[in-house]
Amino acid sequence: PAPGWTTTTDVVVVGSGVAGLTVALNVRQAGLRATVVTKAMLDDGSTRWAQGGIAAALGEGDTPEQHLDDTLVAGAGLCDEDAVRALVTEGPDAVRRLIAVGAAFDRDEDGEILLTREGGHHRRRIAHAGGDATGAEISRALVAAVRSDPGVELIEHALVLDLLTDADGHAAGLTLHVMGEGQRDGVGAIRARAVVLATGGMGQVFSATTNPAVSTGDGVALALRAGAEVTDLEFVQFHPTVLWLGPEAEGQQPLVSEAVRGEGAYLVDGDGVRFMVGQHELNELAPRDIVAKAITRRMQEQGAEHMYLDGRHFGAAMWETRFPTILASCRAHGIDPVTRPIPVAPAAHYASGGIRTDLHGRTTVPGLYACGEVACTGVHGANRLASNSLLEGLVFAERIAADLTARHATGELTERAVDVAGARAAQPVPLLAPEARAEIQRLMTRGAGVIRSAASMAAAEAGLAHLAEHARADLADEKPADPRVETWEATNLHLVASALVAAAALREETRGCHWREDFPDRDDATWRRHLGLALQERGE
Ligand code: SIN
Repeated sequence: PAPGWTTTTDVVVVGSGVAGLTVALNVRQAGLRATVVTKAMLDDGSTRWAQGGIAAALGEGDTPEQHLDDTLVAGAGLCDEDAVRALVTEGPDAVRRLIAVGAAFDRDEDGEILLTREGGHHRRRIAHAGGDATGAEISRALVAAVRSDPGVELIEHALVLDLLTDADGHAAGLTLHVMGEGQRDGVGAIRARAVVLATGGMGQVFSATTNPAVSTGDGVALALRAGAEVTDLEFVQFHPTVLWLGPEAEGQQPLVSEAVRGEGAYLVDGDGVRFMVGQHELNELAPRDIVAKAITRRMQEQGAEHMYLDGRHFGAAMWETRFPTILASCRAHGIDPVTRPIPVAPAAHYASGGIRTDLHGRTTVPGLYACGEVACTGVHGANRLASNSLLEGLVFAERIAADLTARHATGELTERAVDVAGARAAQPVPLLAPEARAEIQRLMTRGAGVIRSAASMAAAEAGLAHLAEHARADLADEKPADPRVETWEATNLHLVASALVAAAALREETRGCHWREDFPDRDDATWRRHLGLALQERGE
């Protein structure tokens, strides 16, 4: 349908995690009006689920240079060193500014920020809050800050549909579907001088993921439909230790933070053997892809469905103070980590790739910016270093705000003329039925999950093509799926899944978190490069 209502702002930000809210708060300092649109409630995205923390060289003896080294090693040859340098050098002050906004980190009795370790870090570098509730505290502080600023308009329950552009191809706003009441109900449009996508990840492409239900790749799908370039989609990070809830577990799974290993828990197999010892100099704290692969291999060798994380030696008091969230979620599932090792297995966790941006968060479409998990700034390469994601959201959100502020100062950030009325009606999208979501997840888990091969991915591609044919046939027969959140989400999941599997099938090597059983080696001669993808026409 064509938009039924229109509103105007200066900067429209899509997404309300650490990245989106930081952009909104920072552009306000330049006197720009911001509108934040979010698909569910303000704190329903991935940020609030982050446990381990936020990495920054804040500790004595640590330096941005060491943080850079660890990030580059984890990224397996594909990080953009300039982007990583921006991340690690601006990171410590960005965390201090977050504290000034109101986020309270855990501190020792002298008031110093407590730091823990996680996989791939050679130093204690991870600041945390509420023990293992870091994201919840950051989200609380940022939501409170935007709510108290009348210059930030907040629109909840709003699924973004497509980018609006002016005659020059500059971003000029977007269309969205609001499940609200009164003036803001149904499909509408927001006109803006710039558009920032901070929609988070796409973990719901897989059956079992640490991501919340809202992580359906909406930003990447919008960017693809708008002709923006996406890159590195094949690098999906599987978190090594997610609470194992049975072979058929689907949807968001409880995370067991790497910080549990950072504080000294062991990974053991069914015989109690610490199988990470001898596999890497950091043992259980090896980079995440190495641990996830070692767990998967051990599971295959032993015909087991999971391994164990043993933190019994922490004792009850430490579990209660340091890991209250994990303790509660384990106990809610009948497992007491004080007395029993926790059954764990890998699950989809983080999209290292996304919408390609430069160092200022600009995408390949003028006026369209991206930050946070939806973006590919180049800091993660082929495998993100633990706890670099909240930091990336923060640092690159600040960079985007700085770029918008500078463009505003030079008068370049102008209102754009755009044909709102003709925006969507002209190009009907074949929407997928809501039931397609579970089928996409099954296809992707089997075909493009932790271990991939040409055959497994061909099967996934065939299944995805079949779903698309079905949607096209329904549209041609004039019985299309209803345009509503469930159908838009299924359609977005299908588009990003198709792009992901296409990239993963092309990359005939194993690198970082992309594991090809038919190409088990890293091939720097051919593959030390990025795979970019841009769709020139909607729906292709
Ligand atoms: C964790 O707490 O293990 C998650 C940290 C991250 O994904 O960066």
